[in-house]
Amino acid sequence: MKVIHSINQMFDYSRKIKGAGKTIGFVPTMGALHQGHLSLIKRARGDCQIVVVSIFVNPAQFGPGEDFKRYPRNFVADKKICQKVKVDFLFAPRVKEIYPQGYCSYVRVKGLEDKLCGVFRPGYFQGVTTIVHKLFNVVQPDIAYFGQKDFQQAVIIKRMVRDLNIPVKIRVLPIVREKDGLAMSSRNKYLNRQQRKEAPILFQSLQLAKEALKKGERNSAKIISRMKKMIERVPEAKIDYVSIVDPETLEDVRLVKGRVLVALAVRIGKARLIDNIITDSTD
Ligand code: PAJ
Repeated sequence: MKVIHSINQMFDYSRKIKGAGKTIGFVPTMGALHQGHLSLIKRARGDCQIVVVSIFVNPAQFGPGEDFKRYPRNFVADKKICQKVKVDFLFAPRVKEIYPQGYCSYVRVKGLEDKLCGVFRPGYFQGVTTIVHKLFNVVQPDIAYFGQKDFQQAVIIKRMVRDLNIPVKIRVLPIVREKDGLAMSSRNKYLNRQQRKEAPILFQSLQLAKEALKKGERNSAKIISRMKKMIERVPEAKIDYVSIVDPETLEDVRLVKGRVLVALAVRIGKARLIDNIITDSTD
């Protein structure tokens, strides 16, 4: 496995690989790798001849007062994990090279970026789309892999790729969970023992929504209110949102018909946790 920090070097390798007619699978990450990231890397390994994983804690997607400084970083452990699953290139560019002095170009996916998490984290998705576009330019992947865990991120990136004619296929893979249902996340490290015990309430509330829909409830407000009540049983939990939306437009759905995304963001202690399920009320 080659570890690369320089943009030009990564760019040259990618150009050569593409020139030789090989396919590149790309998994962008912010490190602190866990089984969720691994599921994407393993899929890329199965699909493509060359696998590139990037690790870059992207300052542009953290707002003032958010956790950029204390976001978990463990490059040595991440490197070992990547080696073990036979990643070809680990690309870890430096902040100064990605955002040199005078940097002023940003990609925005209007409309979609203002919904759900965008309401609570202004500028967040602009940071995500900008870095992902930059990484696509450097790595030149045939297929890029994202997790359903960050559902809105995946929807926005798919739209960016379509709107800007970026020659990459986007694959979105299912959420990997702990045994008790908690969606794996680098930010779970922020939870203390008690909070960690309580955090599966988020997944349980999504299950409640699924059950309610299965039983024929169609009124989103009623389902959301039941979910919120359940989550509020954890006194430390502070809800940013619980929403039922159309999985493509991310617009609120008032009366459920067909496929919907049930999504939530809840702060427990220092961790802001997100989770979601896609459910089809006609199943
Ligand atoms: P990060 O949070 O490190 O996640 C990298 C990728 O792993 C994302 O596509 C995310 O959806 C996926 N992922 C995280 N937890 C997962 C889980 N439990 N199951 C399945 N997939 C999971 O998302 C980012 O980084 C950044 O925004 C990035 C795209 C790298 C841009 O900076």
